[in-house]
Parts: sequence; structure tokens; C-alpha cells
Amino acid sequence: MSSTSNETTAALAELDRLESEGLTAFETLTSIPDWEAARVVFLGLKQGRLKVAQEALKTLPGPDRKIYGQRFNAVKTALEVACETAKTKLDQSVVKTAVIGEDLTVPGTARGFGRRHPLTQTSEELIDIFGRMGFELARGPEIEDTFHNFEALNIPADHPAREPLDNFYLTPKTLLRSQTSTVQIRVMEATKPPIRVVALGRVYRPDAVDATHSFMFHQIEGLYVDRGVTMANLKSTLRQFAKSYLGQDVTVRFRPSFFPFTEPSVEVDMMWDSSGRWVEMGGAGMVDPNVLKAVGYDPDEVSGFAFGLGIERLCMRRHGIDDIRPFYQNDVRFLSQF
Ligand code: PHE
Repeated sequence: MSSTSNETTAALAELDRLESEGLTAFETLTSIPDWEAARVVFLGLKQGRLKVAQEALKTLPGPDRKIYGQRFNAVKTALEVACETAKTKLDQSVVKTAVIGEDLTVPGTARGFGRRHPLTQTSEELIDIFGRMGFELARGPEIEDTFHNFEALNIPADHPAREPLDNFYLTPKTLLRSQTSTVQIRVMEATKPPIRVVALGRVYRPDAVDATHSFMFHQIEGLYVDRGVTMANLKSTLRQFAKSYLGQDVTVRFRPSFFPFTEPSVEVDMMWDSSGRWVEMGGAGMVDPNVLKAVGYDPDEVSGFAFGLGIERLCMRRHGIDDIRPFYQNDVRFLSQF
């Protein structure tokens, strides 16, 4: 150093100061705004101290410039590294301060996930299964007129099924539908065969509530009308459905029965479990010619099958639930299992 001019010695001393002050500044920073301020002071491109020191080079005597230049570059690199290191440290500590002081072993507040009601899940799965079998979704109103709930279904005015005690009448001519078979009529009135639909929804009957009955429950109705539809089609469709929804090992049984709107008619039973208990899932049959006529179809041209199954019962069979009431009690301990 003794060989350099006084001017250069002073300039080099200033570089030393710049270096040590800069390093200290970047090391002791505690916040991003402080870091930003220090960056401007030391490395700022216009007025930063490093920039000023660089300018100083030009004022030094030629032979000293190399020494100064080398020292300048070293200081520049040191400050740039310190600046970057400080930034990285601060970024990490921002994340850390969020948890400082917290006991990381305390269990967090679990977020409760909402779920769809098991009957909704079941309905969607049924729609999906029948959809894959070519059945479209149809809908009808829950408040029905006696024509669609009874007359058109071949249930005449004097039929016991129309008893006020067995139905929720709203007026003499309207009621809460007692079956989804009403939708069969609405679909056939509106369209020509071929028809392949399912309709799902609530039905209402003034039954006393117990483990297997409720005054409101859900049915899935199916209707298939085309040329040459037979009872064999009905049975294979329901068997295929039962296997899809309940598993390959499910056993299905058809018992002769009677419904005014189907002929012949059957009750559809499914084996509940390995105990050998049969449970009635609903009714089915070949659409009665009188019903086809009532909607303007020619029974000599087309035939059809229909079925109506209880959605609660299907869901209960699937999940091994033996009481229908929890479906309507909104107890999350029950509902969260699905
Ligand atoms: N609607 C009948 C019931 O509620 C079930 C059924 C539907 C029967 C379609 C035959 C055909 O019990």
C-alpha cells in the first residue's frame, strides 16, 4: 500500500469501511423492509455506496487503478452474497414466525367435510347404474292429482287404495303422491315409445313409523315400453341391476302379486344376508293394457314393464342398516359413516 498515492489509500480505506459496514448491516437485518433499505444503500444502482466507490476509480492515478479495481470487485462480490444470504434467511423466518411459540404437538382443529346424504349417494348411484343400462332420468311432481296417482294407473274411484286414511290428501283432487308410478303416466303422456326411463323421489303414505316404515320414503321407478318387451326382460334387468348395486352374489326372487297397473305383477325380494332372510324391495310387472290405452298407446303394438323399488331398503341392504329412522334424524354420527 505504501506504493499507492494518499488518495488511493483513502479510497481503499473507504472500501474496507464499506465492506465491513455492509456485511454487518446485512447480517443484523430482521425484516424485509430493512433488507430492502440496506440493499438500496449499499447496492443501489444509482446512488448506492458501491456505485459511488466504483465511480471513485476514475479519479485515481492510473497505476493505482488495478489494485483498487481488484479490491472493489472483492467487496462487491462479498456484499452481493451477503445481500442474497440475508434475503434467503428472512424468507425462511417469515414462514417460521408463524409457528414460533406454538406447541406443535397440540392436535389441530380438524375441518369437518360435508357429505351428501346416504340416500342422495344411493340415488346417484342408481341413476348411474340404470343410465348405463340405457334408462334416462325422468321427473314428476310430489304434489299429484288423483288422475295421475290413481285413475291413469287403473285404480278406479272405489278402489280401497284411494282411502283418505291411506293417503295424504291436500284437496279432494290432489295429494302427496303415494308412489312414483305417477311419473310413468306423465312420461307416456308426453312421449311415444320406445321409452326407457327411471324416476326417483319421495313418496308419502300415512304409515306408523317403525324400523321398516316411514310416512315418507323414496322410490325408484323404472319404465320400459317398446315393441316386444317381455317379463324375461324385466327379470333380467332387475337381476342385472341388483348385481351391479349389491354385488354378484345377491339373490333375487320374484313372487306373484297384484298391482292394478301391471299384469302380471310380482313382488321383488332380495336376500338380506347369509342368514337366508328375504326382504321385499318393491313391486314390478308388465304394464297393464288398460294403462297403455289410457295414454293413447296401442297394447297390440307395444308392451312394457315397470318396477318400483324402495331406495331406503336398497341402501339398507347394501350397508347392513336395519332401521330406516336414522335416515331422517340428521345425526352426524350416522351420516358421517357414508
Ligand atoms: N308403485 C308400486 C308401489 O308403490 C310399485 C310398482 C311399481 C309395482 C311399478 C309395479 C310396477 O308399491
